[in-house]
Amino acid sequence: MSKLTCLFAFSVNSVSSAAIVLSVAAGAALAQPQPDRLYTEHCAACHGADRLGAMGPALLPENLARLRRAEAEQVILQGRPATQMPAYSDKLGAEEARTLAEYIYAPSRRCPNGARRKSARRASST
Ligand code: HEC
Repeated sequence: MSKLTCLFAFSVNSVSSAAIVLSVAAGAALAQPQPDRLYTEHCAACHGADRLGAMGPALLPENLARLRRAEAEQVILQGRPATQMPAYSDKLGAEEARTLAEYIYAPSRRCPNGARRKSARRASST
């Protein structure tokens, strides 16, 4: 019986320490820059909510093939002189710029390739 109580106490102890580890991990996740939130807040107005472009060009891997990722980070932080692309070095840190660059070089969840495939099919049927 006393053996069982001991076991019980041990398992309660390990569960609570697991909970502490979990909440610390959740806190770390919150501290990470969130690319989609950063994008929506700073970039979507000009580059489109779905990155397909508006006043600014589309920010999708297909468009950015000619631009190296390090150059994109540079554009984000320093802007493009004599264009509407503003510098973000006073609002974003290097880490956030890197996160955003990674984000815009990742394929869009909305899959513009699907749209292109559809229009190609239409073109071939005429
Ligand atoms: C006020 C409008 C505006 C905002 C806000 C804006 N951009 Fe731009 N951005 C532009 C324009 C216009 C260009 C095209 C500049 C040019 O002609 O070279 C551009 C160009 C770029 C380019 C280079 C694209 C290429 O093909 O060379 C990148 C990368 C970029 N923006 C990322 C961002 C990111 C990331 C944000 C948010 C942090 C952002 N932009 C916010 C207007 C904007």
